[in-house]
Amino acid sequence: MFYKFKQYKRSLKFLLIGLLIIVGVRVYYRATDDFRLGNIQNPMPYHPEWEIPQLTSEEQKKLQNILSQKFSYIGKGSQTYAFASEDQQYVLKFFKFKHLRPSLLFGILPKLPLLGPYQEREILRKQRKLNSIFTGYKLAFDVDKEESGLIFIQLNPSQNPLYVTVVDKIGVNRTIDLGSVPYVIQEKGETLRSVLNRLIQNGDMEAAKQRIGQLLDLYVLEYHKGIYDRDHGVMCNTGFIEGRPFHLDVGKMVAEERMKQPEYFQPDLILVANKIEQWTKTNHPNEAPEIKQYLESRLSTIFGTMFQL
Ligand SMILES: Nc1ncnc2c1ncn2[C@@H]1O[C@H](COP(=O)(O)OP(=O)(O)OP(=O)(O)O)[C@@H](O)[C@H]1O
Ligand SMILES: [Mg+2]
Repeated sequence: MFYKFKQYKRSLKFLLIGLLIIVGVRVYYRATDDFRLGNIQNPMPYHPEWEIPQLTSEEQKKLQNILSQKFSYIGKGSQTYAFASEDQQYVLKFFKFKHLRPSLLFGILPKLPLLGPYQEREILRKQRKLNSIFTGYKLAFDVDKEESGLIFIQLNPSQNPLYVTVVDKIGVNRTIDLGSVPYVIQEKGETLRSVLNRLIQNGDMEAAKQRIGQLLDLYVLEYHKGIYDRDHGVMCNTGFIEGRPFHLDVGKMVAEERMKQPEYFQPDLILVANKIEQWTKTNHPNEAPEIKQYLESRLSTIFGTMFQL
C-alpha cells in the first residue's frame, strides 16, 4: 500500500514537471515570439541571382544613416520578424528560418526506409518555400521598388560585419551582426486595415474610398508589369506611406507575363476586392454597402464594363 502511494506520488511529480515545462515553453513563445539569432540565420549556398547592384555612395550613406538607429520590435508574420527605426521611417526585416528549414530531427535521424521519401520531400518543400520568398523580395526590389517601399535587401549574407541594435518583444537590447544574416530595409507605413479602421471610425468615408481606389490602382499597375501577389491578404499585406499605397509584404510576389492580360488579372483583382468587402462587412457593417458600391463602380471602370461583386 505504502509502495503504491509512493509510486503514485512520483508519477504526479513527473506529470507536474511536464506540465510546467509545457506552460513555460508556451509563455516563452508568447512573450518573445521566439525571436533569436538561431531563427534568423541559416547556412545557405550563395545565390548570385539574389545579388543587387552596388549601391551608389549616396545610397550607401542613407543606409548607414538608417542602420545607425536602434530598431524596436513591431511584430512577426509567418515569414519575417519586423522592427521599426527610432525615427519611425523604416522597417528592418529578418527572415524567420524556423519554418523555412527542415525539422532538426531530419538531421539527427538516420534515413529510414519508410520515412526516407517523406524526409526528402519535406526538405525539398522547405527549400522551395525559402527560394520563393527570397525570389519575391528580389523581384519586388528589381521591378516594384517604389511600390514596395524597398530601400535595401541583402539576401546572401555579406560576411562583412555590420552591427545593429534591435530591441526585442520583451524589451531586451540585442546586437545583431547584419553581415551574417539576410535582411531587408523598407519604408515604414500603415497597413490598409489600420488606415481604413481609422478613416471609417472618423466618419471620413470619402477618404476611405479614395484609399481603396488607390490600392486597386496599385494592383493594376503591378499586373501591367507582369507581376502579382499570390497572397491575397490585402488588409495586412498592403498599406500606405504618407498617402502613397504600397505592398509591404512581397514574400509571395511572382512574375507572370500573362497577368498583363485582362482575362488573367481581372479574377485576381476581384479576389482582392472581395477581401476588402468581406473585411468591411465584418468590421464596419453599417458602412459596408457604401464600400461595396464603390468597389463595384471602381471595378466597372477598370474592366470597362458593368461589374457586380
Ligand atoms: N513596411 C512596413 N511598415 C509597417 N509595418 C510593417 C511593414 N512591414 C511589415 N510590417 C508589420 O510587420 C509584421 C510582419 O510583416 P510581414 O507581413 O512582412 O510578415 P510576413 O511574415 O511576410 O507575413 P505573412 O504572415 O503575411 O506571410 C506585420 O505585423 C506587419 O504589419
Ligand atoms: Mg504579411
